[in-house]
Amino acid sequence: MDMQILSTAQELAAVCRQWHREGQSIALVPTMGYYHEGHAALMDKARTLGDRVVVSLFVNPTQFGPNEDYAAYPRDLERDAQIAREHGADLLFTPAPEELYAEDAATWVEVPEMGQLLCGISRPIHFRGVCTVCSKLFHLTQADYAVFGNKDWQQQAIIRRMVRDLFIPVTIVGVPIVRAADGLALSSRNVYLTEEERAQAPEIYAGLQYAKDMVTHGETRASVLRDAVLRRWASRLPLGRLDYLQVIDSASLNQIEEITGPATMACAIKMGKARLIDNIQLN
Ligand code: PAF
Repeated sequence: MDMQILSTAQELAAVCRQWHREGQSIALVPTMGYYHEGHAALMDKARTLGDRVVVSLFVNPTQFGPNEDYAAYPRDLERDAQIAREHGADLLFTPAPEELYAEDAATWVEVPEMGQLLCGISRPIHFRGVCTVCSKLFHLTQADYAVFGNKDWQQQAIIRRMVRDLFIPVTIVGVPIVRAADGLALSSRNVYLTEEERAQAPEIYAGLQYAKDMVTHGETRASVLRDAVLRRWASRLPLGRLDYLQVIDSASLNQIEEITGPATMACAIKMGKARLIDNIQLN
């Protein structure tokens, strides 16, 4: 059967209810579109998890701050629909903003402390928007699985906490970061990079790998790792402006001084019009 494209919440819920009645499991891939191989990997993973795959494509206004790129966020519905179809989606959900947010919508879902760390420092309302829209999608689809990319490590950790705290019956599945051949993490926002910025951008991941190598060779002090990466970026990534670089506990996202358990190095770098995030598991 060809992929269905639906744009109302009611239709989405009705189709998912019917699939559940038939005993079919559902894997959801929440996205904002403008697909690249990273999104394709999420869809491929979803295909292995659920009998039915639902992909949502919604540039969620509530997760963008007033001076962010909501209006400019790249969009290409026709191409996206083709990619979703090729990667086994049964249903593509493409609501208008009014469909998910009534004019008098007054309810937010928030994990406030985790949402104010890392990206939340410069994007204070971002994760409230993400949690709110993901809650809506989880409720509408009653998905058994929801698939998220590891690139947005903070997002995934917050969604896991929200799902646990609210007893939402969905299993969150993370998918490894898909990278260009030179190491740059794929992102819809990479289209904002100029040629010169794009040429330097792989240094972001090279810096994170450098820190991981130091850990492999026995370094455990977060400040030493951080300083080494910053020194490296100062010479090799001059077009980058640091938003943050932190060594964190992989689950709680709290900053750590010494690596004793699962640790992640996470960063956000501004380059021209783009703000790029990346992370690496240090151990
Ligand atoms: O990661 C994204 O693309 C978005 O934050 C998500 C999860 C689709 C929510 O709008």
